[in-house]
Amino acid sequence: MDRLTLITACIPPCRRLIDVGSDHATVPISILNRGICEQVLITDVHRGPIEVARRRIEEAGLSDVCRFVLTDGLDDVAPEEGDVLLISGLGGENIAGILERGYHKLSRFYRLIFQPQTRDYLLRNAIDRLSLTFLDERVAVENRRPYLVMICDSSIGDPGMQLSPLQREFGPKILERVEETIQVIPHIPELNVNVRTALEVLSAFELFDLQNRARLVYLLSKYEKITRRARFHLRDQALLNAFDEWFLSLF
Ligand SMILES: C[S@@+](CC[C@H](N)C(=O)[O-])C[C@H]1O[C@@H](n2cnc3c(N)ncnc32)[C@H](O)[C@@H]1O
Repeated sequence: MDRLTLITACIPPCRRLIDVGSDHATVPISILNRGICEQVLITDVHRGPIEVARRRIEEAGLSDVCRFVLTDGLDDVAPEEGDVLLISGLGGENIAGILERGYHKLSRFYRLIFQPQTRDYLLRNAIDRLSLTFLDERVAVENRRPYLVMICDSSIGDPGMQLSPLQREFGPKILERVEETIQVIPHIPELNVNVRTALEVLSAFELFDLQNRARLVYLLSKYEKITRRARFHLRDQALLNAFDEWFLSLF
């Protein structure tokens, strides 16, 4: 499943979606055509992408169910304008900044969907600080690169959550789902080699469904990235140790 298909699949039926940083408006067109939502508020911080979105929406014959706003994040978005919020394809730090600035509007959305392109740990930090609840974390693999999608809820309010450094880096729901998946498999001899190789073997394990294999691809990619950094940073070495300990405890 590619990135935009996964994002589209994560959007629940709603009255109005707000798509922040919409650009090509692919997701709005897809969900409107399939009747998943009734209307979309399309925003972007740049005029060029707003015009691209407007043209594509016109071509799709959907102008009467879309509104366009040129604004930074949620700045000029009234809270009652939507019930589901999507922010995808932006850097994690950018999405985190949008949420922090617009925190007083977040409780109006019953579902929030984020797809950070980079620095997902900074976004998890913000989600944790703002007491949003993680419902799920899913992954699309496109050209062998994993793309993370976070699905959150603002109504539950879980101030006691406080992510651990391991959850912040690898994702609380990614770890939870992988844990549930791995615990049901029989012993596999190839898994005794080392953590990196075991992740590689498991991410291609045919008995797992596609989504859980994609989550393992994400873990593998993170693990490799942190291994490269760990030569220079003690914090990353501690993270790797914590990950190894968690992973080995699953067998
Ligand atoms: C790479 S595109 C992503 C398009 C689409 N959402 C996707 O997932 O493919 C990023 C878009 O976000 C817009 N953007 C970046 N920062 C923004 C912000 N603070 N508020 C609104 N839009 C922003 C950019 O102008 C650009 O059009």
